Amino acid sequence: KTPAELKRTVVLVGMMGAGKTAVGKALAARLGVPFRDSDAEIEAAAAMTIAEIFERDGEAFFRARETEVIRRLISGPPCILSTGGGAFLQAQNREMISAKGVSVWLNADLALLWSRVKNKDTRPLLRTPDPYATLQEIYAARTPIYARADIEVASQPGYTIETMTSRVIDAL
Ligand code: S3P
Repeated sequence: KTPAELKRTVVLVGMMGAGKTAVGKALAARLGVPFRDSDAEIEAAAAMTIAEIFERDGEAFFRARETEVIRRLISGPPCILSTGGGAFLQAQNREMISAKGVSVWLNADLALLWSRVKNKDTRPLLRTPDPYATLQEIYAARTPIYARADIEVASQPGYTIETMTSRVIDAL
């Protein structure tokens, strides 16, 4: 696919650690279209990290900014848009995404997600006494919602970013 063929923004959704940002960057490079990342946009506008925003202003504030960023980016020219793991859970975000973009769920199993997030301290939702149990709960609650995405691309432990990128391109 060439940029000319990419008529709709490709919106990557899925759990923390699924590879949305890494695959999104590679996908954008392969297709020659801009890469946008909702978390990065929110951080840049606030001049704070996601963790700081959660701490200072709370999750509801963050979610409102997330919806604004998605509304703005999905209305612009086609791009690859990587979203935070909670973005697709909100009905209004899903509606905007399905009206103007194509959603792609990067689906990775719990063990793989945990291996990627366990040593990072950047995710406020996992700052709990038992982050693994929290991840497990979030995963179970969200899976049926992510499954509403237009396309599912499953990740496996051996898959590289390039493998995932090719699989997304094949599925588009
Ligand atoms: C969140 C995921 C994070 C970030 C915030 C909340 C979530 O993004 O938006 O910490 O609700 O799953 P990543 O999926 O990029 O980690």
